[in-house]
Amino acid sequence: MGLRWAVREPQLGDVRSLVEAELACFEDPWPPPFFISEILAEGRFNRVLVEPAGALVAYLFCAWQFLDLHVLKVAALPVRRRQGLGRTLMELAERHARESGGESLTLEVRPGNLAAIALYEGLGYDRVGRRPRYYANGDDAVIMTKRISG
Ligand SMILES: CC(C)(COP(=O)(O)OP(=O)(O)OC[C@H]1O[C@@H](n2cnc3c(N)ncnc32)[C@H](O)[C@@H]1OP(=O)(O)O)[C@@H](O)C(=O)NCCC(=O)NCCS
Repeated sequence: MGLRWAVREPQLGDVRSLVEAELACFEDPWPPPFFISEILAEGRFNRVLVEPAGALVAYLFCAWQFLDLHVLKVAALPVRRRQGLGRTLMELAERHARESGGESLTLEVRPGNLAAIALYEGLGYDRVGRRPRYYANGDDAVIMTKRISG
């Protein structure tokens, strides 16, 4: 990752920045209470990437579901895309899952989100199914999984 960004766990003081970033990254952004409850919850793997001056540029929220680490959210600010931030965060999640004895990582993605699908496929995730009308606007979700053991 070099010296351009630092990685750390998000804190409650990051919620304002996360909500701002979320508005720039998603058409169905998480509201502030979602971030607060994920930051405070047990059994999570959450990380933010911050620039040397402290500005948040990318973030990842994951939750364990038995031995599967579920990637709830990964995003990079639009002006910081294609600089390896998304891949860096996904690799951190995978390393954490391996070191914790996890068996797999799973996520949902919109079929039309070609950037995200390219990222996940490049990391070895397979399309394993579809959740009909998963998103608020009625879009299906593609389910993608990467097995890391067994
Ligand atoms: C998906 C997202 C997180 C990728 O983050 P990123 O930091 O730009 O991704 P990276 O720079 O790490 O890209 C890693 C690889 O993914 C693929 N990729 C990423 N963006 C791509 C795009 N727009 N088109 C095609 N491939 C893309 C490429 O293979 C890329 O490797 P390369 O740059 O060496 O070619 C980012 O586009 C984003 O925040 N999107 C909005 C939020 C979102 O949709 N999140 C996922 C929800 S499931």
